[in-house]
Amino acid sequence: MNILRNIEEIRDFRASQLRSPLGFVPTMGNLHEGHLSLVRLAGRENRTVVVSVYVNPTQFNDPEDLASYPRTWEKDRMLLESLEVDSVFLPTDEVMYPKGYSITINPGAVAARWEGEHRPGHFEGVCSVVSKLLDIVQPDVAYFGEKDYQQLQVIRAMVGDLNLPVTIRCGPTIRETDGLALSSRNSLLSPDERARAPRLKQALDRLRAAIGADQDAAAALSEERSTLAAAGFQVDYLALVDGASLEPLTAPEEGARLLVAASIGVVRLIDNCAL
Ligand code: PAF
Repeated sequence: MNILRNIEEIRDFRASQLRSPLGFVPTMGNLHEGHLSLVRLAGRENRTVVVSVYVNPTQFNDPEDLASYPRTWEKDRMLLESLEVDSVFLPTDEVMYPKGYSITINPGAVAARWEGEHRPGHFEGVCSVVSKLLDIVQPDVAYFGEKDYQQLQVIRAMVGDLNLPVTIRCGPTIRETDGLALSSRNSLLSPDERARAPRLKQALDRLRAAIGADQDAAAALSEERSTLAAAGFQVDYLALVDGASLEPLTAPEEGARLLVAASIGVVRLIDNCAL
């Protein structure tokens, strides 16, 4: 497995050694089964797989969140080697954001609500780093997890609006046996918080059943917000949205999605499901 740390290195390597189609999985490391399933999917669909491991500072609106983000490169390296990844791009902040860097990407309308509202600047950072990574690695296909549903839609919109020559593919959310969606942040939960965390998915399941059975969506959402608050969650949002624009819906329609973000203690979790 080649570990490439600067832009010239990976560009030369891409042109001379890496055969197309090339599948690319951008990550922030601390790899779990969710990332690994994307890497396997990329491996099945392409001749070459490149993974990037880079904790992007510009997408963190909270310095403490950035400082506490788990960094586990040695373990990540072994996992990627075991999956026979061809190359890993492992840049530093200086490589990605050299002195004087000032141009960023405006993430547009899909980013305005939900995570965009609660984490100002987050999607500007995501779009900026993802467009740089796509330009550096030049993949044919890039893979993102459905767990970060709004991120997926924002990236799809960016790729479409900016005519970026890459196909975006998504992999399903991978869950623990009790339903908790895998996330690098799960390792920061205390045992008590970990035991309560699956209630997020349970709330989504109950909502899907209630709204699917024609119960009033607003009333069902309000009831589940209260249930989560009573279980000790601080709910940022629990919403029924259009699956492409992410605009709120008052009643279910084709392609609708449920989105939730809530904190237990200092750990903020997000989840979503199709209706
Ligand atoms: O989903 C992530 O891990 C990050 O937002 C990404 C896409 C790697 C950009 O830093």
